[in-house]
Amino acid sequence: MADTPDLSLLIEAARAARENAHAPYSKFKVGAAILGESGRIFAGCNVENAAYPQGQCAETSAIGAMVTAGDRRIRMIVVMGGEPGAAELCTPCGGCRQRIREFAAPDTPIHVCDPAGLRRSFTLDALLPQSFGPTNLAF
Ligand code: THU
Repeated sequence: MADTPDLSLLIEAARAARENAHAPYSKFKVGAAILGESGRIFAGCNVENAAYPQGQCAETSAIGAMVTAGDRRIRMIVVMGGEPGAAELCTPCGGCRQRIREFAAPDTPIHVCDPAGLRRSFTLDALLPQSFGPTNLAF
């Protein structure tokens, strides 16, 4: 699609956001970038807190930026965390899968990256099967 930014633009947005992560406790910096319905890119980083449970994930920050700017649909999302070539992928946590679910479709791509680049791509449905969402409340 002509108005769809290249995946590499999203990856670079996630990388830049990750650089700004506030992760003094875990030392685990994460960046996320969303391609919104408007074609705009919204980025976020994890923001930890001395009161540990008050910390927030990068995906949550990016979703907040998207909603604040007026977009309501996620066309795709990139998450970047961990070390290059790490054994474990930085897949979204359970809470963030549900937050993505609110604004995405079952086939929405979730691209998981490390600082060296793309590691693996999933659909939302693969990461959150049989999910509960807005339509479940359509009573
Ligand atoms: N984190 C994210 O921001 N996104 C993920 O997908 C996984 C985990 C953050 C939360 C916390 O600040 C740090 O990474 C370690 O869990």
